[in-house]
Amino acid sequence: MHLYPLIRPFAFVLDPERAHRATIAALKLVPKHHPPFFPASLKSTVGGLEFASPVGLAAGFDKDAEVPEEMLDLGFGFVEVGTVTPRPQRGNPKPRLFRLKADRAVINRMGFNNHGQPAAFQRLLECTHLHGVIGVNIGANKDSDDRIADYVEGVRAMGPVARYLTINVSSPNTPGLRRLQDEGALQELLAAVRDVGCGKPIFLKIAPDLNEGDPERIVKAAIDHGIDALIISNTTVSRPPLKSKYREEAGGLSGAPLKTLALDALRRFRKASGGEMPLIGVGGIANADDAWDRIRAGASLVQLYTAMVYEGPGIARRIARGLAQRLKREGFASIGEAVGSEKP
Ligand SMILES: Cc1cc2nc3c(=O)[nH]c(=O)nc-3n(C[C@H](O)[C@H](O)[C@H](O)COP(=O)(O)O)c2cc1C
Repeated sequence: MHLYPLIRPFAFVLDPERAHRATIAALKLVPKHHPPFFPASLKSTVGGLEFASPVGLAAGFDKDAEVPEEMLDLGFGFVEVGTVTPRPQRGNPKPRLFRLKADRAVINRMGFNNHGQPAAFQRLLECTHLHGVIGVNIGANKDSDDRIADYVEGVRAMGPVARYLTINVSSPNTPGLRRLQDEGALQELLAAVRDVGCGKPIFLKIAPDLNEGDPERIVKAAIDHGIDALIISNTTVSRPPLKSKYREEAGGLSGAPLKTLALDALRRFRKASGGEMPLIGVGGIANADDAWDRIRAGASLVQLYTAMVYEGPGIARRIARGLAQRLKREGFASIGEAVGSEKP
């Protein structure tokens, strides 16, 4: 049953941030039910964790861990909550979220608005964790004097309630944050985070706006410090041709116009890692073909956010179903067999 096309016109009358709040409030009212059954071929293991479906919800939708179980029930194989910072912060002044309808895209400059790690910790403590994987994406406070210390704090604070942690150094909306992807800073950050020894898999989320040599350098740092997977990618600060009136707004662009850039970045990381490092493909994924292309290009898992704004939450189940059909059609017994199977 596709209810979302009927609901969407009402949601789109509201400004995007209000629509988002209303969606979270509505999700909290949905009675808990069993998650969908996924075909066995969709099962995979990444970073030692078992995923029933490779289709996950990307960070930023459920920043404060208000509805992770509801999103699992709706058909996501895993949900990444956050970004959460050690202390609560308001984020950037509004408006800071723009729907680019004609482009099937979003521009956001939210700036890590969140209730802080202690609040998310309490909520996650109450989750029953019976099914699905809930990961926590951590960041640094805007006004922090020592950003690396904020990540160390995040790993300590959120490790006990996270199935995995994502180190997010790729948001364009906290000034200077992306500099933590630079060589010396990244080595220092990853060494500090590893030293905490929280015992949970650690993923690193990367920006799609890459210079020559970045993938090789980042892969090396990640392998040196035992990072379990790379998430490729966050939003882009570049502006491919766009039709919408909001195209000049500052912030990170996501959705359909990010698709080619994110797929290209994924291929570069696959080449740089030679399949040594699990990759998670994100950016502009809107259907099973997009997800399938990402898996064949080297992604063990995929995530999405913006396409759900346009297509509704049923998208996760539709993509999972489509992936199972493609595996069968192409003669693969599992997702793992199809990862990186595209011809160069
Ligand atoms: C409104 C909005 C808020 C986001 N907030 C975060 C965030 O807090 N942390 C993060 O790592 N990524 C954040 N993202 C990026 C997404 O997780 C994802 O990497 C990006 O949007 C590309 O995927 P998509 O095209 O499927 O949306 C945000 C994206 C959007 C649209």
